[in-house]
Amino acid sequence: MSRRRKVLLGIVAVIVIAFIGLQLIPPEKVFSDYKFPGNPPVDAQFQWDSPQTEQLARSACYDCHSNETRYPWYSHVAPVSWLIYDDINVARDSLNFSTWSKREIDVNDIIDQIQQGAMPLPIYLPLHSEAQLTAEQKAQLIAGLQATFGS
Ligand code: HEC
Repeated sequence: MSRRRKVLLGIVAVIVIAFIGLQLIPPEKVFSDYKFPGNPPVDAQFQWDSPQTEQLARSACYDCHSNETRYPWYSHVAPVSWLIYDDINVARDSLNFSTWSKREIDVNDIIDQIQQGAMPLPIYLPLHSEAQLTAEQKAQLIAGLQATFGS
């Protein structure tokens, strides 16, 4: 084996070993403020105005803002897992459809976030076509949120 090849192989080996090493560090060890591992129990405190609104919210928001997250395979692979778990952790803290009551849910803030295109989180969209809402679906979700949580 040429010297050059040995060096290359050595570099690849170090990268592979480092990657395997990362897998031994679970997300909850990375963040000291980690509160919500996996899927805590669901205790819904409100009723959706219609199955359509619920379906839209489930498709676009529930992976982060509920305790019914669907974890894809790559969500278990560090360091991507750390990023995803942190997002879910922070997201459940700012809005949780699985546990929050109607009074706790600020419908105007939610609608603002959708209208600004801030939510669903843009980084989430390329791998989640079901969360890419058309203008019509967005309008339907907003009307449904208003009907469900508006006073
Ligand atoms: C991929 C994860 C993800 C998805 C999907 C997602 N969110 Fe969020 N959301 C977050 C994170 C992370 C935060 C907190 C950090 C921030 O404010 O940027 C947040 C914050 C929020 C907040 C609080 C914002 C504030 O600062 O007051 C609202 C409201 C919200 N999201 C609504 C929604 C709605 C509605 C949907 C679906 C249409 C949605 N989110 C989809 C991750 C997500």
